[in-house]
Amino acid sequence: MRDLFEISEINGMKLNNRFVRSATWTGLGHSNGTCSQRLVDLLVELARGGVGLIITGHAYVQKNGKAGPQQLAIDRDSVIPGLKLLTDAIHEHDGKIIIQLSHSGIYGDPKLSGHVPSSVSNKGTFVSYPVKVLTPGEIERVVASFVIAAERSMKAGFDGIQLHAAHGYLLNQFLSRAYNNRIDGYGGDVVFRAFPLVEIVRRTRKVVGPLYPILLKLNSRDYLENGLELDESLEIAKILENAGVDAIEISGGTRESGHLKSARTGIIDEKDEAYFEEDARAFRKHLGIPVILVGGIRSYETAQRLLSSGATDYISMSRPFICQPNLINKWRSGEVKRSTCLSDNECLGLGLHDNGIRCRWSSRVTF
Ligand SMILES: Cc1cc2nc3c(=O)[nH]c(=O)nc-3n(C[C@H](O)[C@H](O)[C@H](O)COP(=O)(O)O)c2cc1C
Repeated sequence: MRDLFEISEINGMKLNNRFVRSATWTGLGHSNGTCSQRLVDLLVELARGGVGLIITGHAYVQKNGKAGPQQLAIDRDSVIPGLKLLTDAIHEHDGKIIIQLSHSGIYGDPKLSGHVPSSVSNKGTFVSYPVKVLTPGEIERVVASFVIAAERSMKAGFDGIQLHAAHGYLLNQFLSRAYNNRIDGYGGDVVFRAFPLVEIVRRTRKVVGPLYPILLKLNSRDYLENGLELDESLEIAKILENAGVDAIEISGGTRESGHLKSARTGIIDEKDEAYFEEDARAFRKHLGIPVILVGGIRSYETAQRLLSSGATDYISMSRPFICQPNLINKWRSGEVKRSTCLSDNECLGLGLHDNGIRCRWSSRVTF
């Protein structure tokens, strides 16, 4: 039987256990996107707490793709030294860390970035402010920005990268007919909608070499009219596996998906947990690369069941680590109580209005 605490490997990246901290914006970067000591301290606490693989919050590859305050940037070389302090600190604690590369497309915040957000097409009825439809030349620049950001990530000492193609962000907007009604080579058939992402993966692979993990976070479903459904997302995942992706994290929903969003509330007991479980099983059957499942996992029993029943290869969590950075060490020591996370998303609201995420209910000292 597979064990949550066994050693495993994703394309040369050796992991001490099967627990992943899913990408989580913390609001702890500096306002210009550089890494802060508070962020280093927070992530070191997770490494010390036993998390096998830490994924940073989304880092924007182009300024107009910035979505939130104090969000990390990877859009210029000058951020590399600050990020190197972060990766060095995690490695000193025997941890592994990858950076999530992102562009938020229409969800870029013009007030924060000072730029007009980009849209894949003129379909967007989702936001009220002006957006600019990307020209083919601008799409090429977006692709190039991801590739150069991957190169910077490597220079900064990250153990790999994750491309954020979930939650309605730009790469998801390309993939989804709910956002993309282009009629050129970037719209229509799924192969065309996936083209920018495939290009990013292929060109990144050339730059980073064969032994550098390229991960992907993908929606199994958008829960939107005309949005991604399981059959198409499976097809996309296969295309990306063939292009060189090493592991896929399964999530779902967008900002427009109501309660069917990625960070759902009301995870009261075991039956509410792992809300993308069935979709993850389908991915695992369909793919040869590891699957990482995120979304509402709260108990050790659920984590063990998901792994041993073949639903997933890795257990990914976000909110539980905000209130319990030491959760994995506790579970490893045999204290296998369910996470105390209430899944009420207060942490997100506090993060936006209170200078960085924290759990309202946790008594631990926060950064
Ligand atoms: C405060 C907060 C910030 C998040 N930031 C990101 C992010 O930067 N990138 C991302 O892909 N998902 C982000 N998410 C979603 C989580 O990675 C995860 O998919 C979701 O919360 C479900 O997992 P959980 O139930 O274990 O929290 C965020 C969620 C929260 C609550």
